[in-house]
Amino acid sequence: MRRLLLLQLATACLLVLAASHEESGDWHCEPDDEARISAQFNPGIVTLDGRADDWADVDGFEFPLRPALDPDEDNEYKDGKMTVKALHDGADVYFMLQVDGDYVYSKGDDHKCPSVALMFQVGESATYHNMGGCKESPDTCNHTSCRGYEVDIMHFSIGNSIPGRLYGGSSINEEGKEDSVGLVDMFSWNPHCRNMDGSGNNSISQNDWKGAWWHSRYIEVDSPYGSSGQKGTYYFEFSRPLRTKDLLQQDAQFTIGQTSKFSAALWYPADGNPWHGSAHYTVSCDWVVMDVVRGYYTQGKVGSGSSWDAANAFAFVLSVVALAVSIFVGYLLVSKTKTIPFTPIDRL
Ligand SMILES: *[C@@H]1O[C@H](CO)[C@@H](O)[C@H](O)[C@H]1NC(C)=O
Ligand SMILES: *[C@@H]1O[C@H](CO)[C@@H](O)[C@H](O)[C@H]1NC(C)=O
Repeated sequence: MRRLLLLQLATACLLVLAASHEESGDWHCEPDDEARISAQFNPGIVTLDGRADDWADVDGFEFPLRPALDPDEDNEYKDGKMTVKALHDGADVYFMLQVDGDYVYSKGDDHKCPSVALMFQVGESATYHNMGGCKESPDTCNHTSCRGYEVDIMHFSIGNSIPGRLYGGSSINEEGKEDSVGLVDMFSWNPHCRNMDGSGNNSISQNDWKGAWWHSRYIEVDSPYGSSGQKGTYYFEFSRPLRTKDLLQQDAQFTIGQTSKFSAALWYPADGNPWHGSAHYTVSCDWVVMDVVRGYYTQGKVGSGSSWDAANAFAFVLSVVALAVSIFVGYLLVSKTKTIPFTPIDRL
């Protein structure tokens, strides 16, 4: 019974997502050229618990949240911007999404709770707009007809999850199927051609995402869920291995030293009303660039490739010392040759 309900919820979630991308009118987009995030090498500083204090020293970018279907400044999410931060530890990439909003929680009802998603470009032709932008219909889209238009999507609905606990991953239910309620890993070619990762073949693809959420007004002793209605900040924290074993272009693959393209979205139950698909906000009306930055580790000190820090300074001092030594050796050689008696040629 419960499983059926969960399945229905998951299906409803997908349908709503699909409906959310019905649009009318011309698409108009002026992305912010400065908008960009950087995942620096920062191993061992964050715990995947939804809390943001361990992210305090990590720089993020503040994105205005505008309606995905009509990115008009006048219709911005009124409680503030979404801060997105990222880092990696050489094996996994981590994300922190922070956004202000009243603490609303309605157990079991995903549409009366906020919900977030991350989307990444997989195929080279995949556009942000229309979630990949493949022109095929649900009857004709497949791995051949939409090749190159794949996007990777992680969606987290918190209605069935407890703050601070870990969700996602490939949890398998009693039927041996992936239990995909709450935090799901999907791929799509367009809003009408989307699937759960691993649908049809669990042996070669899976849910590689894990995540947790928190709200600044949530009080842990209050019961698992706490009371609703107080102003504060939501935190959504996620991680995924940089690389996955996906064979079917369902996952973005991240490479240290390279850039990826992503977007982030928020669904919010405004004024206590359940959110509906068209009322979701995104951080930009086009892909946002994410740099996965190379790093290094020297004893007691972690650095990233982009900053001038102790290891760089040490290398500089070493090279100055080396230069000084070579000048001194050169001077010694020159002064030594001077002591060799000069024998004029005409005396020979
Ligand atoms: C993919 O879709 C195209 C167009 O409908 C069809 O011709 C082709 O046979 C399909 N390929 C597979 C592998 O299903
Ligand atoms: C699932 O993947 C395995 C390994 O690649 C393959 O042998 C099998 O035929 C696939 N099954 C389906 C239903 O696609």
